[in-house]
Formats: sequence, C-alpha cells, structure tokens
Amino acid sequence: MKVGIIGLGFRLGYLGYVFDAVDPEFEIVGYVDPDPAGLPTLKKAGVSAGRQYGSLEELIAGETFDLLMIGTPNHLHLDQIRIGLEAGLKVFSEKPIVSTIEQSHELARLLAVHGADRLLVGLVLRYAPMYRDLRAVTDEGRLGEIVSIEAAEHIFPYHGAFFMRDWRRYEKFSGSFMLEKCCHDLDLYNSIVGARPVRVASFGGRKTFVPGNDPRREGVNDLGLFHRKPSGWKGAEEVFDTDADIIDYQVAIIEYANGVGMNFHTNLNAPDQFRRFAIFGTRGQAEGDFIRGQFAVHDVLSESRVMHREYAATALSQHYGADEKMAEEVVAHVMKGGPLPVSPLDALEAGILALALDEARKSGTVVDLRPIWDRFDGALSTRAA
Ligand SMILES: NC(=O)c1ccc[n+]([C@@H]2O[C@H](COP(=O)([O-])OP(=O)(O)OC[C@H]3O[C@@H](n4cnc5c(N)ncnc54)[C@H](O)[C@@H]3O)[C@@H](O)[C@H]2O)c1
Repeated sequence: MKVGIIGLGFRLGYLGYVFDAVDPEFEIVGYVDPDPAGLPTLKKAGVSAGRQYGSLEELIAGETFDLLMIGTPNHLHLDQIRIGLEAGLKVFSEKPIVSTIEQSHELARLLAVHGADRLLVGLVLRYAPMYRDLRAVTDEGRLGEIVSIEAAEHIFPYHGAFFMRDWRRYEKFSGSFMLEKCCHDLDLYNSIVGARPVRVASFGGRKTFVPGNDPRREGVNDLGLFHRKPSGWKGAEEVFDTDADIIDYQVAIIEYANGVGMNFHTNLNAPDQFRRFAIFGTRGQAEGDFIRGQFAVHDVLSESRVMHREYAATALSQHYGADEKMAEEVVAHVMKGGPLPVSPLDALEAGILALALDEARKSGTVVDLRPIWDRFDGALSTRAA
C-alpha cells in the first residue's frame, strides 16, 4: 500500500514503522510536515518518508497513492479530511477525527456527500484482542441484556505531565482531554451498549498539575519523571506551572437511549495506572483491564467464572496488540476491500459524547444530547448539490 502523510509526528512515525512491518509493499511516497517529529522513528527503522511537500494540495498533485494518512493535531483534521475527500482520495485520520461539536456536524455533511466508507479512523482499541473477545461474548448473548457499566482510564504521572506540556494542553488544539484521550474508551462502550447516549453529567478539574503541588516545594528537585515523554509541536517545559486549560481528573455519568447507565472516571496522576471496564448484563458480568491484560466473564445462573484470558504485550504494539492488527486490516481494506471494525460515524458519536461531557462539566448541568443527535442526523442526510 502506498500512502501520503500529513502530520508526520510521533504517532504516524510509529504507525509508518508498524505498517511497514506488516505490509511488504508499504511505501510512504511523500509527506507534509514543516517539522516532522516522527521522522527519526522512521529513519531508525529504515523506512523512507518519501519527498517532503509544502502543502497537502502539492502532495496530492505530485504523487499517486492509495491512502492519505492524517496525523496532525486534532483541530486541523477536518480541513485536511475535506481536501482529501474532495480530491477523490481514501483518507485515514487519527482520532479524534474532529475537535468540536460544530466540526462533527460539518464532517457528517461531508460524509453524506462523499460516503462514510471513504474515511477510516485510528480508533485502535477496536482492533485489540481483548475488545474482540468482549465483542464476541456480548454478541453471543452470554451477558444477556446489558444493564450498566463502570469504566475508567487512568494514566501514569509521566504521561499526565506530557499532556500538560504538549499541544494537547490547550482545548483549542485537542478539543479536550476527554476527547483526545478517552474517545477510544467511550467508543468501545458505546459499541457494546448499542445505543446513543442521551443525558450526561460530569465533574472535574485540575488538582495535580498546579503550582501548589510542585514537588520542588517539598525539596524534590529532580523533575525528570515529568519530562520523560518527549513533546513536539507547541511543546513547553512547564508541568506544575503549566498554562494548560485541560483537566487532570474527571468523572462522568451517562444515560443511553436504551436505559443503560455508565459511569466513567479518568485521572492523569495514577502511579499504578489501569484502563478497565466492568459490564453488567442480565445474565453475566464481563471485566477487563487493557493495561493489566486480563479479561474474565462470570455467569449469573451458574455463579461461576466461565471465561478467563490473559493477553501478553506484543513487540510491535503500543496498544495491547491492537496497532499491528489495525495496520493489517487497514491494508487489507484499502487494497482488497476487507471489512473494518469501526467507522467514522462511530468516531463522531464517541467524540460528541466526550464533548458533551465537557459541556456538562463546564456548565454544571445535565446535558441533553437529543437535540445534538437531531442536528447530526440532519447533517448525515445532506444530499450532494
Ligand atoms: N490512535 C492512537 O492511539 C493515537 C496515539 C497518539 C496520537 N494519536 C493522534 O494522532 C495525532 C497526532 O498526535 P501525535 O502524538 O503524533 O502529535 P505530534 O505533536 O507528535 O505530531 C503532530 C505533527 O503535526 C505536525 N503539524 C502541525 N501543524 C501542521 C500542519 N499545519 N501541517 C502539517 N503538519 C503539521 C507537527 O509538526 C507534528 O510533527 C493526534 O490527532 C492524536 O490524537 C492517536
């Protein structure tokens, strides 16, 4: 598969290496990025990034390729997706594919005109072996009817500090922390519930990455831990005196259209991080933790554990074995028309949920998503002019 890239940062530098490892025909023919943070990763792996172009239009005019891959900061995705779709290309955009609710409606209109099958999304957890087992258990009816979900994504302090130093620290670029980081998890649980969220409430703020919590106040002067993960575009050094406007903890409650209830919790300062779910159905309970690599299913009537699986990390993957699966299936889809487990509409729905949670947090109200879905469905039924 031949690709052109816009936004050759850490993510697409890494993915270029993974795609190259799974596809002998993989080639990056060219890229657009004034300061490509991902280039050293590709060079180290012996993967050429092709020719550098000054704009997406020039890349499209100058090269022939099967897939345009977008790895720029989130607020730029929509315009770049539009240019790719209007040029007749198949496009892969990293998640989140847009950064605001307005942009979600705009992208829905574009997909109505150009076809949702022209856009692929980097919601990599849909390819994780544990998610696939959860999906199978749910589809086989082993949980019965889904009733309620408890879920969380907590990250290590070094990773939280990265968020406070990176472009992701500003909502104008990332959308929000819930959107940028937790859209994966919200998408997974949306898919298991099988209905749209209709009402949400949420609380949160920043308590860890604030000046009063700077370890230097307690005489701890080595802040190397908080600088471990490199940042590129618009990166900064400050961690506890950051100018970020994102949260470092947030809790949320969500009611779905079919009555399922979910709570979700994220914290950016967890020294023993986990990313887990407990899903309760009328006939069973499924529990898993992507970080700890464990999944179990318990049955109501027999009161027994009916499934237990452990998942080892793979050499290639940054996400529990999911990245290489995504690369394989994206190549098979683009070159041979194979199926994909996730669509841009799923990504938009997860994104709208994340952004509605932020709206609820900021306004201190319960947000009703039904008017948003009405507009969204209206945008999806736009006809080509
Ligand atoms: N699916 C996943 O698990 C996953 C993981 C990490 C990041 N991501 C997503 O990938 C995207 C990139 O994240 P990242 O960590 O690689 O960020 P990054 O900062 O490392 O890379 C962004 C790149 O975009 C470039 N850039 C900025 N403005 C540009 C422009 N106008 N035109 C061309 N290039 C431009 C920067 O120079 C930089 O190299 C984000 O959307 C992020 O959410 C997804």
